Amino acid sequence: MKKLIYSLVPVVAVSLLSGSLLAKDGPKLDPSKLPPAATKTGLTFDSDIKPIFEKSCFKCHGSEKQKGKLRVDSLDAVLKGGEDGKIVEAGKSANSTLVYSVARVCVEEDDFMPPEDKGKPLTKEQVGLIRAWIDQGAK
Ligand code: HEC
Repeated sequence: MKKLIYSLVPVVAVSLLSGSLLAKDGPKLDPSKLPPAATKTGLTFDSDIKPIFEKSCFKCHGSEKQKGKLRVDSLDAVLKGGEDGKIVEAGKSANSTLVYSVARVCVEEDDFMPPEDKGKPLTKEQVGLIRAWIDQGAK
């Protein structure tokens, strides 16, 4: 019996270790489920993205409330991110968690933004604009 327990130790240790490594990476996000980036060029936060966020996000992520320690009312604030870190990887919309949240293709429904029943989901066109803005360098 003792021998059996000892032989199990490495198995348990390895599975705990790999479990925590997987948890760190999180479940894989699937970029093929995202709407395509818009084709419009020359996008900037102030002229193209801020108006979308103003309508759908400012009441929870603006001057009054900062849910998830996040503000999306200025370019600097968006690039800074929230309590879980960065939400935008400039140049790579498919790596940017912001896009998955607003496209509602996250693994966890809690991460859908705006949250379920807390506002109208963004349209595919709006998500496409946000993608294109990030792909163009998030300026
Ligand atoms: C009704 C309030 C509400 C609205 C509107 C809202 N959010 Fe959120 N948001 C939250 C809450 C609450 C959290 C924190 C969730 C958590 O900690 O699990 C959050 C978290 C986030 C996060 C994760 C931040 C982090 O680092 O953990 C992102 C990104 C985000 N929101 C983006 C947006 C965007 C973009 C919009 C508009 C399209 C939006 N939210 C609209 C309430 C809101």
